[in-house]
Amino acid sequence: MSVCIAVTNQKGGVGKTTTTVSLGASLAARGLRVLIVDADPQANATSALGIKGRDEAGLYAALIEEEPLDRSIEATSTANLWLVPTTPALAGAEVELVTVMAREFRMKRALEPLRAQYDVILMDCPPSLGLLTVNALAAADEVIIPVQSEYFALEGLGHLSKTVEMIRRNLNPQLAIRGVLLTMYDSRTNLAREVEQEVRTHFPATFRTVIPRSVRLAEAPSHGEPITAYDPSSTGARAYEDLADELIERLRERDLIPAVAPLQRARPVAAGTAVPPSEVAHGA
Ligand SMILES: Nc1ncnc2c1ncn2[C@@H]1O[C@H](COP(=O)(O)OP(=O)(O)OP(=O)(O)O)[C@@H](O)[C@H]1O
Ligand SMILES: [Mg+2]
Repeated sequence: MSVCIAVTNQKGGVGKTTTTVSLGASLAARGLRVLIVDADPQANATSALGIKGRDEAGLYAALIEEEPLDRSIEATSTANLWLVPTTPALAGAEVELVTVMAREFRMKRALEPLRAQYDVILMDCPPSLGLLTVNALAAADEVIIPVQSEYFALEGLGHLSKTVEMIRRNLNPQLAIRGVLLTMYDSRTNLAREVEQEVRTHFPATFRTVIPRSVRLAEAPSHGEPITAYDPSSTGARAYEDLADELIERLRERDLIPAVAPLQRARPVAAGTAVPPSEVAHGA
């Protein structure tokens, strides 16, 4: 029982990495064992979690040399949250994968042996539809698509849903769009509200939860910790807590993850503090 989710949008700067790291930390705070895979050569998720990637290990070696991925996994300062870090060397994989056998399925194969150890695997994708993203989509059960609440959001979404359809037809028939997520939402503007309405009309699988624009969310990566540790009572942290609840609800409906104990909200937790086993309700 586990789920593998690609956080993807070919458009840059829409909140993919922020969502991967913040949602991952919020799910981990509920006692779920979460693995974040940094599949973007920009390595933003790696640095946002305060970890330094090593060129000789990590995703690159797993994808190109078929090295086991478990040697690359690093614990983060958040309990229950682990990371497969990356470095800019991963950009080479995009080129080198072109000539390898079964090039679209390298990520799927690398993750397969790890699935039993984690409840949720979240993959942070690069802002492109190249082979790294295709590998993530071929490995995923589900997709979360963050979209910035602005005018061009819908155009990008149309393109992306065609890609998901193509992946479904050719590589991964199970792939489901679990949700579109509105990010950097400014409720004071008419534009944000109009975009929200349009997105919800075209994509009924849009999450109820909307992520507001929040300075604290933008600051957290420079401190190398997720928002749940950096400022747990901020509006950004609360929004990602809500998103975690909503996602858990959707995943539990299909029995994809174990039952979790409800989280006590906005309780400041020091980075690295382990959740006491009594708060972890696995195996329901
Ligand atoms: N809700 C938010 N409020 C304010 N700033 C945000 C929010 N979400 C993300 N940001 C900031 O916006 C920028 C882009 O976010 P992020 O890196 O998460 O996007 P991305 O889609 O991963 O980008 P890329 O396509 O380059 O990988 C970052 O500086 C981030 O800190
Ligand atoms: Mg990113």
